[in-house]
Formats: sequence, structure tokens, C-alpha cells
Amino acid sequence: MTLRHFLTLRDLSASELNHIIMRAQELRQMQHRNEVFQPFAGKVMGMIFEKSSTRTRVSFEAGMSQLGGSAIFLSSRDTQLGRGEPIEDSARVISSMLDIVMIRTFGHDIVTRFAEHSRVPVINALTDDHHPCQLLADIQTFVEHRGPIKGKSVAWIGDGNNMCNSYIEAADLWDFKLKIASPAGYEPKPEFLNGFEHCAELVASAEDAATQADLIVTDVWASMGQEQEQKVREQAFSAYQVNERLMDLAHPDCLFMHCLPAHRGEEVSEHMLDHKNAVVWDEAENRLHAQKALIEFLINTNLNQH
Ligand code: CP
Ligand code: NVA
Repeated sequence: MTLRHFLTLRDLSASELNHIIMRAQELRQMQHRNEVFQPFAGKVMGMIFEKSSTRTRVSFEAGMSQLGGSAIFLSSRDTQLGRGEPIEDSARVISSMLDIVMIRTFGHDIVTRFAEHSRVPVINALTDDHHPCQLLADIQTFVEHRGPIKGKSVAWIGDGNNMCNSYIEAADLWDFKLKIASPAGYEPKPEFLNGFEHCAELVASAEDAATQADLIVTDVWASMGQEQEQKVREQAFSAYQVNERLMDLAHPDCLFMHCLPAHRGEEVSEHMLDHKNAVVWDEAENRLHAQKALIEFLINTNLNQH
């Protein structure tokens, strides 16, 4: 009777993840047909935010409501978490009243400690180390536009950050090849690369990663919590902008993704989001559908165990 959480992609098996991606596509179609599907009437999600968000908050809150349940937005600014109540105590209390919890925070240990003391499933909605929910949306988007991602060449261009770490795990789970191009000193930490040599490799330049790629992905140069490094990073990352010239090196069908928010003129050129192969708006919308599929999976799986 082990409680299932979603703290990193590796908490689910490849076949469970594929089930979620298939289901997300169905839920997208149902939503577009205005079909009402409310299996979770009376269920309540807690949404703990210690960092800002647009997509994550809107998609979880709307998703829970569309499934017939509701959600409570809990900002650390106005809960006792922000005043130092231990995460373990907060987990015991919050999970005794709710059916599922999502957390966006800094240290990854916060979500693992919360999960260890929670009576309900916990979803990582971004930590400094991982952003697994974004990967569900990214894979769904690739599959919807191009079919299976297995065997494809994916270029990660930019910071070796939380998104990059989740891409490394995704490469193993979905069996694609990941080429990572990061400036010296900004590569993913070895602890996130170790054991993934069969599917993820560091390459020397953005051009090396982009050549013949089927998918190019980037993210901001300074993540939340790194605002004071912005200027230094702008210098370090100047050769790592994703632009039309880089796309020309890739496979003609190569898609472009960015988890957003994007900084035009920095990690992406002014018009990169309007490129004919950019799918960033579908990618953002798919956060809704993929997370509804995830919520359904976690609530049903954990209910069936009790
Ligand atoms: N991509 C993403 O997680 O966006 P938000 O920070 O707006 O939630
Ligand atoms: N790497 C970014 C992702 C934002 C969705 C950050 O952590 O701020």
C-alpha cells in the first residue's frame, strides 16, 4: 500500500507515463468538444506556491475544477509555511484535509519531505532540480505533432537547470537521444547526468546540438531564484540563443519548444516563438490536459490501493 507521488518523472514507469500521455490527448479532445467529465466531485487539491507561476497555477486550478473538484491556492506569503512552520507538520495537517497536493518550491528536499509525511499524493510543480509536469506537456505536444518521440534527437540548448534535468530523465523513459549544449560552468550537475550516459550527452556548442535535431528546447538563462545572476548569465549564454539560424541546422520538421515564460532577445530571438515549427502555445495548453491525466492517474491509483 505504498502511496504514489509524482516528484520526478522516475516515480512512474514508462508504461504509466505513456498511459498519461495517451489519456492527456483524449482529455484535450474532450475539452475541445465541451464534453463535461467530472469524476472528482468533492475532491480538493492543495496548491502550495513558494515561487511565481502563471501556467502551473491556471492549469492545475482549472483542471481540478473541470474534473468536478476544487483547488485551494496556498501562497507561502500568507500561510504559516512562510513563517517557518516545519514542512513535516504542514504536510500532516494539509494532507489530512485534502485529496491531492501540488507544490512549487525551491529545494527539492521540500517536496520529498512533504511527500514522506503526506497521506495523499503529492505532485512536484517545479523545484530547483526538476519540472516533471512540464515534461508531460512537452511529450504530449511532440506526440500530437510528430508521433512517437522514441529514437528522436532532442537538443537542449541553454542552462543545465530543472527543465534540463527532467529532460535527461525523459530521454531514458521515452528512449530518445538528448544532446545538451550549455556554456562552461552551466552544465547539468553530474548527479543528474550519472547513469544516463546511454541517452544524454554534453556537446560542445548550440550548433552541435541543433544539427539534425527533431526537437529543439530551451529555457530562460536565469531561473526563479537566480535573478541577481541575470547580467553575468547574459554574457555567459550569448552564444546559446535559439534563433532561425539554429533551426536551419535542424531536421526540416524539427519542432521548437519553450516552457515559458520566454525572454525575447535573450534565450530566443525576437520572432522565434512565431517560427512555423514553434509549438509553444500548444505546449502551454497541454499543461492543462497532461496534468488532468496525471491527477486522474494519481487519485485513482491511490484509491484502488485502499
Ligand atoms: N512553464 C511554467 O511552469 O510556467 P509558470 O511558471 O507560469 O507556471
Ligand atoms: N527554469 C525555469 C522554469 C520556469 C517554468 C525556472 O525555474 O524559473
